[in-house]
Amino acid sequence: MAIIEKDRITIRSPDDMHLHLRWDERLYHAIQHTFSHWGRGIIMPNTDENRPILTSKDVKEYRNEIFNFLHQFLATHAFEPLMTIKLVKTTTFEVVHAAAEAGVKAIKSYPLGVTTNSENGVSMNDLVTEFGGVFKAMEERGMVLSLHGEHPEYFCLDREDYFIPVLRQMQANHPGLKIVLEHITTKNAVQLVQQDTTGNLAATITLHHLFLTLDDVIGGSLMPHNFCKPLAKRPEDRDALISAVISGNPKFFFGSDSAPHFQHTKESACGCAGVFSAPVALPLLTSFFDEQDALEKLEPFVSQFGAQFYGLPLNRGTVTIERGSWTVPLLYSDSGSLRQLVPFWAGREISWNVVVRHCQLYE
Ligand code: DOR
Ligand code: ZN
Repeated sequence: MAIIEKDRITIRSPDDMHLHLRWDERLYHAIQHTFSHWGRGIIMPNTDENRPILTSKDVKEYRNEIFNFLHQFLATHAFEPLMTIKLVKTTTFEVVHAAAEAGVKAIKSYPLGVTTNSENGVSMNDLVTEFGGVFKAMEERGMVLSLHGEHPEYFCLDREDYFIPVLRQMQANHPGLKIVLEHITTKNAVQLVQQDTTGNLAATITLHHLFLTLDDVIGGSLMPHNFCKPLAKRPEDRDALISAVISGNPKFFFGSDSAPHFQHTKESACGCAGVFSAPVALPLLTSFFDEQDALEKLEPFVSQFGAQFYGLPLNRGTVTIERGSWTVPLLYSDSGSLRQLVPFWAGREISWNVVVRHCQLYE
């Protein structure tokens, strides 16, 4: 479907298979930048420490709030939020069935304490030994288990590697369960997904992990806006992610993990993890594929593989991205507010820009 010209590319409306919107005015900014480029998004449930999305009731409230914001932009038909709930001790198979009725597509597991708003996450032991009924119900309803793949009890750079045995055990216990290993950052995780033969394992890859190594976070000055979980790793890990994306293997698809945090909470003695990439994700990805001389691989990565793994219809609208340089704003804020957001790539140039979006949803 993609139309690729020298300075312009039109692709099927894309899906961001992993993003964070939050509740407060961050939702306003995040949704605005998301609907203007993306047709659908898998919306993560760790909205707030005190107000996470755990049940179908929470899902309905949160979806309404998202639609309230979309409505303000006259964009109610432009974007479909695909909802998730968070796996916690109180998640039961009844919760799963009610969530499925409410349209929930995935349940997200956050290892206890490993990342933003994961205080009531699950221990690795519980993940493997508890929740049998939950995972069975998810399998029955075709729901995806979305895994933050870091083992919280290990050294920060090794957490993804130590999660691999946990994942293997999960697969052995629940062979029919569809699993997405989210925002992978290591060569080993890439290999694990490549070598898997079950057909039930896939991985998301973010924009920022295609660009950053740990040097861009702490190698020189401390760069809080590149700080996220899992941490960006070594150059060879980034190279493995790039190769996976360029290979066109359908097990790897795009999930931005765009995560808005206010500037003062990132530039802080105890800074939050998360990269706000929604404003730049599609243009910068296009530039990435262009530089790799692989523009034809953009559409499958953003508009096809994720939907196929989730069993969703493909979108019907299109988005056109043109060559043309622009500078990413340093900040997004409501006038006068100190609660500002610093986007990924702030102040830097991007050589492609989204010019038109035809917002016809699938159906
Ligand atoms: O850096 C991150 N930020 N990683 C995550 O897993 C969560 C996210 C957030 O919610 O801010
Ligand atoms: Zn995330």
